Amino acid sequence: MKIIGTGSALPTLTVTNEDLAGFLDTSDEWITTRTGIQARHLLSTEDLYDLAVDAAVKAIKASGLRPEQIDFLLVSNVANRHVTPGLSCIVQKRIGLSCAGLDINVACAGFVNALMLADGMMKAGHAKNILILCAEEPTKYCNWKERDCSVLFGDGAGAVVLTEGNAFKDVKLTMISDRDVLYYERGMEPTPFEEKYIVGQPLVMKGKELFRTAVTESAKDINTVLKRNGLQHDDIDWFMLHQANKRIIEGIRNIVGGSCLKYPTIIEKYGNTSSASIPIMLDEMIADNKIKTGDKIVMSAFGAGFVSAACLWDWEF
Ligand code: ACO
Repeated sequence: MKIIGTGSALPTLTVTNEDLAGFLDTSDEWITTRTGIQARHLLSTEDLYDLAVDAAVKAIKASGLRPEQIDFLLVSNVANRHVTPGLSCIVQKRIGLSCAGLDINVACAGFVNALMLADGMMKAGHAKNILILCAEEPTKYCNWKERDCSVLFGDGAGAVVLTEGNAFKDVKLTMISDRDVLYYERGMEPTPFEEKYIVGQPLVMKGKELFRTAVTESAKDINTVLKRNGLQHDDIDWFMLHQANKRIIEGIRNIVGGSCLKYPTIIEKYGNTSSASIPIMLDEMIADNKIKTGDKIVMSAFGAGFVSAACLWDWEF
């Protein structure tokens, strides 16, 4: 398969580190040096569904296809206001689609996992043109009275349209079951039969452990994909990594190798937008004419689970 259209959407409200330091015990200096984040966009007047539709409509327009030519909608989302129906159902009609869809939650690695599903669906003949939409509002599951998680995240949506082609070369998925390293637990309705009622709680994160696992497992995924395709880091034009922390990206680069110019970042202005981070970055790089036919691109992401994933493209437009 190949990507023939991209789109992204960010909330209108920009919140800087200085803004956060106005009500949290933090500072621009701490956030910038520990994470690389300088600002993020936060949902305020609009909602996640508006962002999702905006990104998807832009991607379809860029693809040159009509909405009715999209055969399947794959949505990656960790959590939104609705537990059910799935986000794909909620936005399908507003995007102008009538095809079936499916929601996945593979945390921040959702985009690369969705690519694997799309590849399989195309090869099995289930669909020819697939829209992948990653729409995330991680700021809604942080505790905004605490500084540990709230400073890290931003909201956003990114989308791609895929069709038949020969650009997608390989994908590697990893799962190491360890809920405690990062989780957000929603309370459910108590029943008269339940002996232990669990109240929900905002995002809990073991930052240092997550940092170490993210670097180790992402580097392993990337090196596996490189090795089984007979490639060295020098052969790769772009390493597009999940934008969670600039120091994590640097840690992965130290193991995998390659100039920092090959590791683009958008975390400075958007923070961690979960599974939307790679498609948003891809959309911006395509708009800036940074990607050309023949570029070899590695995408790699990690997230709660612990999950991680990497894939390889030989880009064609
Ligand atoms: N502002 C100021 N000080 C802070 C803040 C803050 N926002 N947060 C923590 N601190 C303090 C701590 O309390 C601690 O103080 P102490 O030394 O007095 O105890 C000090 O800063 C150092 O804290 P550490 O936890 O040691 O800082 P560290 O260098 O590990 O950086 C960070 C923390 C940025 C969270 C890092 O561990 C990290 O990036 N981890 C991975 C996070 C991540 O990737 N999350 C999402 C992944 S999955 C997904 O994308 C959904």
